[in-house]
Amino acid sequence: MGIRKAYIETYGCQMNVADSEVVRAVLTSENIVSTLDISDADIILINTCSIRDNAEQRVIKRLSEFASLKQKRADIIIGVIGCMAERMKETIFEKVKSVDLIAGPDSYRDLPRLIDIAASGEKASNVLLSVDETYADINPLRLGDNGVNAFISIMRGCENFCAYCVVPYTRGKERSRNFSSIIDEAKYLFDNGYREVTLLGQNVNSYKTQNNNEQIDFPKLIKAVAQIDPLLRVRFATSHPKDFSNDLIEAIMQYDNICKSVHLPMQSGSTSVLKRMRRSYTFEWYLERVETLKKHIPECSLSTDIIAGFCGETEQEHQETIAAMNQIRFNDAFMFKYSERPNTIAAKKYKDDVPDEVKSARLTEIIELQKKHSLQHNKKDIGIEYEVLIEGSSKRSEKQLYGRNSQNKVVVFDDKGFLKGTYIKVRISSVTSATLLGDNIY
Ligand code: 5AD
Ligand code: SF4
Repeated sequence: MGIRKAYIETYGCQMNVADSEVVRAVLTSENIVSTLDISDADIILINTCSIRDNAEQRVIKRLSEFASLKQKRADIIIGVIGCMAERMKETIFEKVKSVDLIAGPDSYRDLPRLIDIAASGEKASNVLLSVDETYADINPLRLGDNGVNAFISIMRGCENFCAYCVVPYTRGKERSRNFSSIIDEAKYLFDNGYREVTLLGQNVNSYKTQNNNEQIDFPKLIKAVAQIDPLLRVRFATSHPKDFSNDLIEAIMQYDNICKSVHLPMQSGSTSVLKRMRRSYTFEWYLERVETLKKHIPECSLSTDIIAGFCGETEQEHQETIAAMNQIRFNDAFMFKYSERPNTIAAKKYKDDVPDEVKSARLTEIIELQKKHSLQHNKKDIGIEYEVLIEGSSKRSEKQLYGRNSQNKVVVFDDKGFLKGTYIKVRISSVTSATLLGDNIY
């Protein structure tokens, strides 16, 4: 067989972006090269997300578009990989006839074999979850990225079982990748011109491994990555508030190149809702973590996730979230309507009883408030000088570049021949709720 070409489309979280890079590396080692052009592909893989129903609906719609490609070229192989493959393992072949293969998040090494089975005309499937797969030895193939920012997966799986969340079922048990393979990957990236790495895991603070008889936790790991070079920025996502430790706050404080930006999902500002969500903290506890962070690192930006309309959420509980937002004033937030996921604890135990119009109204209120807070924060940046890592040309104008400051805010400024992957100083001159605009100083 000649060289086959695979096209991968990625949905969902940053973990999925990192996983698609692992998949590309696995396929390449078996002579299946990656293409960014779907019309050129013999194999189309869609890396999927199950977190909310609308994420799955988007994939189903996309699969029907792939099906029409298949009508023109019957030999195209279509595969569903990732969380949806895992969650819908029993139904997906039935539901979407054009799908030839499915592979769950722990089965990517098996993809070449699954592709061969599919090529012979049979349906192929591997959705086994593993207790120890971390893809540690695979050097991810980062195709079509900007050569500046890279993701490094440091742990997989989740065992928190928040009531609303599908992830423990789709990604299985928590496991940490070995220390030296992470350090080697970060060094390799730096040597190849990358200047920012984001350490990824469902709950990075649970990172735990043994290295030469030393117990390595997340603060130790992030410090070791930061020590590779002061010019390598380090970010991380996501942290669960329950393990957002003082040691980590100290590490962020200690190293200039550990970015002053924390994503700490609150989910709700109401302790009674948090209890139903099984988040294992109260609002007061969350607030204490945030206040400790701000006390030690006042310049640190804080972003969060909020779910509107979880089971049984009363207007008063919703107003507690609004009050919490007003008290904390996040720099940024990802905000969602609660979407019931089959077989989760909430689906089994509670009624999804907040009417959709009420969920929508609450979500709108939350989004509007957050926009106001983001704008207020950004306005305070006017006149301030930031160090910006240049990531590329601005989407709006070729004459402008963009990058981000340590606080993870996008900064746009005029292109005077600066190079991608270098740091420059920018003074902020005007802002929107999403972007800072500035003049470079040097
Ligand atoms: N419905 C809505 N939002 C959800 N999230 C997770 N599960 C659900 C759900 N069932 C949100 C949480 C999480 C983010 C990644 O997605 O806020 O932090
Ligand atoms: Fe979606 Fe969660 Fe799976 Fe990421 S881990 S792809 S967010 S369901």
